[in-house]
Amino acid sequence: MMYGQLCTEFYDADKNFSPNDEVSFYLQMFSKNDLILEPMCGSGRLLIPLLQAGLNIHGIDNSKAMLESCKKRAKSLNLIPILIESNIEDIFLPEKYDGIIIPLGSLQLFYPREVAFNVLQIFKNHLKPNGKLIMDLFIPWDALYKDNEEEFNTREIKTSDGSIIKSTHHNKANKYEQIISCENNYKKYINNKLTMEEKENMHICWYYRYEVELILEKYGYHNIQCVERFLNGETYMTFIAENS
Ligand SMILES: C[S@@+](CC[C@H](N)C(=O)[O-])C[C@H]1O[C@@H](n2cnc3c(N)ncnc32)[C@H](O)[C@@H]1O
Repeated sequence: MMYGQLCTEFYDADKNFSPNDEVSFYLQMFSKNDLILEPMCGSGRLLIPLLQAGLNIHGIDNSKAMLESCKKRAKSLNLIPILIESNIEDIFLPEKYDGIIIPLGSLQLFYPREVAFNVLQIFKNHLKPNGKLIMDLFIPWDALYKDNEEEFNTREIKTSDGSIIKSTHHNKANKYEQIISCENNYKKYINNKLTMEEKENMHICWYYRYEVELILEKYGYHNIQCVERFLNGETYMTFIAENS
C-alpha cells in the first residue's frame, strides 16, 4: 500500500502547501480560462493554492486518505475541489485539458517504467491540441555517489493534532536499472504511546534529461523544454512539452 493514513498525516505536516514561487510558475504557464488536470494530486499541496489563485484545476489520485485530506483542507478554505478517485492507469475522462501537471517527481512512482510510458500516452489522449504537459523529475544524486547502495534513515514530525509520527526508510538503489526500492514504516505516538503503525513499499524510478526528451518525443510530444528548479529542498528538472 502507498500513501495510507499515516503517510498522509506525515506528508501534510512535512509539506503543507506549495510556496508562492511554485504557484506563480503555474500562473505564468496557464490562464484562468484553461482547464488543468493534476494526476496524483494527493492532499492538494499544490492543487489547493492553484484553486485559490483562480485556476480551474481537477485532481485525480488513488489514495483515499490523501483525497480525504485534500477535501478537508480545501473545505477549511471554503473550496470544493473536483477530485476523482482512480488509478491513473485506468482513466478515460470525458474532458480534454489545456494542461496536465505532475509536480515533485510523482511520475517516478510508476513501476515498472513501462507503466510510466503508458501513462504518458494516457496524458496525451487527455490533452487538447497544443495542450501542455508539465512534470518535475529528480535524480537521486546521493544514491549515485554512495559505494553502498543501501541506505537507512529516520525522520520524526509533529502533526497539527500534537501527535508525533516517526518514519523509518530503508532504500536500496540499483544504479544500472535506475530504480530505488523503498520500505517505509510509519509509527504514530500520542503522549508517547504507540497508537498506529503503517508499512509502505514503493519503487522510485529515475530518468536522465536526454532520456526523458527521447521518451516524450516517442510519445508524440513536441516543443520540449527542460528547466532546472529548486523545489521543496531538492533540485528538479521541470519538463514542459506540448501535445501535437
Ligand atoms: C508525492 S505524492 C504527490 C502529491 C501532490 N501531487 C503534491 O505535489 O504534493 C504522490 C501521489 O501519487 C498518488 N499515486 C501513486 N500512484 C498512483 C496511481 N497509480 N494512480 C493514482 N495516484 C497515484 C499517491 O496516492 C500520492 O498522493
